[in-house]
Amino acid sequence: MRLITVRGGEHWAEYNDSQQGRAARPLCAELITLDGDGAGRDAIDLGCGAGIETRALLSAGWRVYATDAAPGTRERVLAATDETDPARLTVEVTDLRTLRDLPHADLIYAGYSLPYVGPNHLPAVWRVIRARLRPGAWLGVNLFGENDSWAGNPDEVFLGASAARALFDGLDVLRFDEVEEDGPAYSGTKHWHTFDVIARMPTM
Ligand SMILES: C[S@@+](CC[C@H](N)C(=O)[O-])C[C@H]1O[C@@H](n2cnc3c(N)ncnc32)[C@H](O)[C@@H]1O
Repeated sequence: MRLITVRGGEHWAEYNDSQQGRAARPLCAELITLDGDGAGRDAIDLGCGAGIETRALLSAGWRVYATDAAPGTRERVLAATDETDPARLTVEVTDLRTLRDLPHADLIYAGYSLPYVGPNHLPAVWRVIRARLRPGAWLGVNLFGENDSWAGNPDEVFLGASAARALFDGLDVLRFDEVEEDGPAYSGTKHWHTFDVIARMPTM
């Protein structure tokens, strides 16, 4: 029998506290390398967690809108970034399942966060994300695949390769890595099945 885990706000607050000290995730680091200096352009960190990728984006010159539903997000992200200029960093506590709008952006990063909005909410969230990408904007996301150990949890999204690919129709896909491997998770070792994707809105 598969054990279904319900991951609530306290779980994520604890998880995010445990992340202090790690480096920015490779997908975010790659986005930053691909586009060079943010030069004051607008980035969004969706499901920003501990704020480590928010900090990396700020350091690369991006202005960042960071959001997450976990309690304590604002304090956690402000502590991680040391950013005091409200013109450079906005932090909001938002449940992505109720997301109906976002600022327009030149880069949107959602690191291991979108699967948790669940299958009923992902389509609307995805529409908002796509609608807010400016021409030439970068999109970097991690999605879960259907062979993942956690697949079967009805509160989370697990996709087949073609469904994952279809999300990026009309965008220029620069990276579409399907990864399957056993490895560590916060809750112990598991089988990971992920799609790590970098795409770009065409400039027309
Ligand atoms: C695995 S963590 C990833 C955090 C961070 N991006 C990272 O890479 O460490 C998942 C994040 O998604 C957030 N999250 C889960 N469900 C959410 C929801 N419905 N709305 C907003 N954030 C959510 C959690 O609070 C958590 O910070």
